[in-house]
Amino acid sequence: MEVVICPNAAEVGRVAARKVAAVCRAAGPHAVLGVATGSSPLATYAELAKLVAAGELDLSQAHAFALDEYVGLPEGHPQSYAEVIRTTVTEPLGMKPSQVHVPAGHAADIDAAAAEYEQLIHAVGGVDVQILGVGSNGHIGFNEPVSSLASRTRIKTLTARTRADNARFFSSLDEVPHHCLTQGLGTIMDARQVVLVAQGKWKAAAVAALVEGPIAAMVPGSVLQLHRFATIVVDADAASELTMSDYYRTAFEHKPDWQHFDRMN
Ligand code: F6R
Repeated sequence: MEVVICPNAAEVGRVAARKVAAVCRAAGPHAVLGVATGSSPLATYAELAKLVAAGELDLSQAHAFALDEYVGLPEGHPQSYAEVIRTTVTEPLGMKPSQVHVPAGHAADIDAAAAEYEQLIHAVGGVDVQILGVGSNGHIGFNEPVSSLASRTRIKTLTARTRADNARFFSSLDEVPHHCLTQGLGTIMDARQVVLVAQGKWKAAAVAALVEGPIAAMVPGSVLQLHRFATIVVDADAASELTMSDYYRTAFEHKPDWQHFDRMN
């Protein structure tokens, strides 16, 4: 696991975007991107969009798979993740809508939709780089505490804490769905690289538990300790409860030039 501590949230987006762009370029035109919703990756998407606009990254033939979708929102709901991904990823990154996929949270047969989603990811060769945020309770995707570390795409019930955290996107807490369709932890772990971004003090405890705590289903994101290529990009506030910050900073500063993914050209 590589931990990169950035001075501020804007820099988190810049560094994470450069890492994602480097993996996409190496994977070739048909790169497969895993995308998260929520606030955390927005700066990363904005930086990726700048690279696309500058002609430094071409995602026009790439594929993307969202992590999750609410169950119970009508199709086209502005807070459905299909809509959020369309406006924050597909359009700004110049991707083909037909190649950007979101779990079908509105499907009549949720189990079948989950199995189809897994097959679709498999059919394009798997995810090259998965972008992740982390919930204040340590979830990744919507794999809430005590999710199986081997889980695959399936329906989950959101915790009261996650519903409260996400109420800011809705007019009231009552409008936040209770269920979602989410890639499992096993599905996420199949991605060849993962880049997790977190900003703010309210994520500090989750980041510390994920990076330095024991691997435990109570902190679903801690499963990333078993991933061979996991990069955790955080701002100083989100890093504030890490005990090894000095080491992470030193390691990043002294990276050999050939390993520096955030230096372009
Ligand atoms: C979103 C997702 C979640 C979020 C997490 C953090 O697709 O899978 O794990 O990444 O809830 O959300 P924000 O970034 O809004 O704090």
